[in-house]
Amino acid sequence: MQPNPLAPSWLSVPQDANALATAVWSSNAARSESGELTVAGVPASALAAEFGTPLYVVDEMDARGRARLIRESFDREFARIGSSVKVYYAGKAFLSVEVARWMIDAGLNIDACSGGELAVALAAGAPAERLGLHGNNKSVREIDRAVGVGIGAIVLDSIIEIERVAEAATRHGRVQSVRLRVNSGVHASTHEFLATAREDQKFGIPLTEVAEVVALIRSHSSLKFLGLHSHIGSQIFETDGFAEAARRLFDVHAELLAGGPVPELNLGGGFGIAYTSVDDAFPIDELAARFADIVSAAAERLGVPVPVLAIEPGRSIIGNAGHTLYEVGTIKDVLVEGTAVRKYVSVDGGMSDNIRPALYGADYSARLANRSSDAEPALVRVAGKHCESGDIVVHAEYLPADVTPGDLLAVPATGAYCWSMASNYNYLGRPPVVAVRDGVARVLVRGETEEDLLRRDAGLDAS
Ligand code: LLP
Repeated sequence: MQPNPLAPSWLSVPQDANALATAVWSSNAARSESGELTVAGVPASALAAEFGTPLYVVDEMDARGRARLIRESFDREFARIGSSVKVYYAGKAFLSVEVARWMIDAGLNIDACSGGELAVALAAGAPAERLGLHGNNKSVREIDRAVGVGIGAIVLDSIIEIERVAEAATRHGRVQSVRLRVNSGVHASTHEFLATAREDQKFGIPLTEVAEVVALIRSHSSLKFLGLHSHIGSQIFETDGFAEAARRLFDVHAELLAGGPVPELNLGGGFGIAYTSVDDAFPIDELAARFADIVSAAAERLGVPVPVLAIEPGRSIIGNAGHTLYEVGTIKDVLVEGTAVRKYVSVDGGMSDNIRPALYGADYSARLANRSSDAEPALVRVAGKHCESGDIVVHAEYLPADVTPGDLLAVPATGAYCWSMASNYNYLGRPPVVAVRDGVARVLVRGETEEDLLRRDAGLDAS
């Protein structure tokens, strides 16, 4: 079959438009004998019948497995260079009480970047010393609460915060461990990284000011300085950006050792995942080996001990574990510029459950979920139901041409930054999240009903 001229150059006509690309789908996604999609043994049609659509479906053992794999790979590689690693799960990607428990069970810590995320982790029973708090503008209340519960580490992001955290620690009679977020001038996104003297953005302290700021931190007896922190970006496929950031941080790290201990170094998260079959994500064990080589080379170059490494992956743990299930509502064949047809397949969700295509131009893939089909592949655009032309779920995909209203579509790799960035645009309730495991589905987070939405509208109180 000839490719549709409207298809982007990276998208080729698939041999089989029912195939589930291994790197994109969760490890327990499969087709049953009848051709239906199943996740951890639960058929898509059963999920839709029980919980409705749109629906977020998380493959529990896949998420737990990725969390464990990251921890074990980094533990092994850092043991090889005589050090160890603290892995923080970045809760901003997706956090619920159960997911927090999965991460704690897998031996991870949890990174929160707001009082709300902290509250979820605490409600899950996560030990406070295994939590971290981030953010460029933590409120005084958030700081007070974090210090009060005995949080393991706070990442300081500005000079103002030093005083605020020191004061809270004094008030609570604690010595609070802190890291300092630095602005390394390295910014990475996908395959490229930019390195400048100083990045023009809101996070962190410029490297040139770090010595002075750390001296200030060390002047407070209620603070304990753990080390520097850097996060260079998200959805990164190459390690060059991390290596450049590590080199820059290490120069300063080594200088700081003259003034006192610097036991740790935090290189943040941002490891890329496959959203479509052309994305080539780094295998985690290889990534861990590269990180160990980067850190040991940097330490050796300056003749300083290898610090304990901290990392903060979010997407690479939960992204590919999640899928979104939609029902097809309407279909239109749109003749574009009189030459080729793009099939618009509209589903019952959209930018309210996945803002990433509209916000970042992110690409996703899709498959028929309730059945498979031998029909020729047709180029489709999966659109949402919102009143906005940019409301696209999947810009371009080949699906069997007989896709029809009432079919279920599954979009893989929606576990990170979809539910956590969901909205109520057009008064759609946010969909439920279910976990599937060993043939059983259970709710992680209930969906919102119209009643839920109306309950918050104060206009009804007066009537
Ligand atoms: N640590 C820090 C300090 C961060 O700012 C982030 C993400 C992470 C760790 C985790 O990064 P990950 O491993 O999940 O890539 N909404 C965007 C992503 C924003 C990421 C913000 N920070 C998206 O949907 O792509």
